[in-house]
Amino acid sequence: MVRSPDWAAAERLSYRFAMLIDNTSALVTGGASGLGEATVRALVRKGAACTIFDRDEARARVLAEELGGATGYAAGDVGDAAAVEDAVAKATEAGTFRIVVNCAGIGWAQRTIGRQGEPHDLEAFKTVVAVNLTGTFNVMRIAAGAISKTVPLDDGERGVIVNTASVAAFEGQIGQISYSASKGGIVAMTVPAARDLAPVGIRVCTIAPGLMDTPLLGLLPEEQRRALGSGVLFPRRLGYPAEFAQLVVSIAENGYLNGETIRLDGGLRMPPK
Ligand SMILES: NC(=O)c1ccc[n+]([C@@H]2O[C@H](COP(=O)([O-])OP(=O)(O)OC[C@H]3O[C@@H](n4cnc5c(N)ncnc54)[C@H](O)[C@@H]3O)[C@@H](O)[C@H]2O)c1
Repeated sequence: MVRSPDWAAAERLSYRFAMLIDNTSALVTGGASGLGEATVRALVRKGAACTIFDRDEARARVLAEELGGATGYAAGDVGDAAAVEDAVAKATEAGTFRIVVNCAGIGWAQRTIGRQGEPHDLEAFKTVVAVNLTGTFNVMRIAAGAISKTVPLDDGERGVIVNTASVAAFEGQIGQISYSASKGGIVAMTVPAARDLAPVGIRVCTIAPGLMDTPLLGLLPEEQRRALGSGVLFPRRLGYPAEFAQLVVSIAENGYLNGETIRLDGGLRMPPK
């Protein structure tokens, strides 16, 4: 006899997943601007107590004050263990700590060698890797330790970590060598992090955004922003930060997404330059 699916159970489970964000505590690095800020707003709307962790203390404070309620902030560098421990302690105090979103990141444009053959600035390369890759790992390792001590949900899930890479992890453009290396590292960590954290019920996913309309691109003249958007397959525009936040929410709510890197890019494949 063919066993029919238990639709009622499936429905109950989907409600359980939808409840994951409500009444939980979330930590968002780089939460004072751009994709991180959009994520904070979306998680707060979904009922989470959000801790904004950003090196820009002034912006973090302003956003936390605007959102009020259980939204808090901690200032510091993602590469600084003590600062991250402090932020994780705040997130743990704010509620049942289950969600981490790593959005803090920086860029750098320089070719491997310059026009006269001069080598790439080594310190600049190390800084980009330190913030984007080591910083993401630093937050993951400390936050996962705290999440592993929470009471698990019905199916053993304790929480979820969402990291932010970039399409530059796959098609880095000319001059993106350091940025691509750092983002490629984040993609490469996704599976081993998910494997390491599976025994304690923590999922790990990565989002690789294409061209998103954040303050970073907002500095460009309107014409240049339109030109960038028109290179996207469909829709021919820059991505909205809210679309990134929506994917974070989907990943948090869908308990079967794990160990995966998801491109969010309107089908864009970056050319060499
Ligand atoms: N905007 C895009 O088109 C795009 C595309 C692909 C990937 N990304 C990635 O998305 C993430 C967010 O980008 P964004 O466009 O929102 O940038 P953004 O500059 O608007 O926001 C980044 C935030 O991170 C904070 N930050 C930077 N370094 C930090 C550090 N060492 N410690 C703590 N906080 C730090 C900044 O103060 C800022 O508030 C980055 O990792 C970026 O590489 C962005």
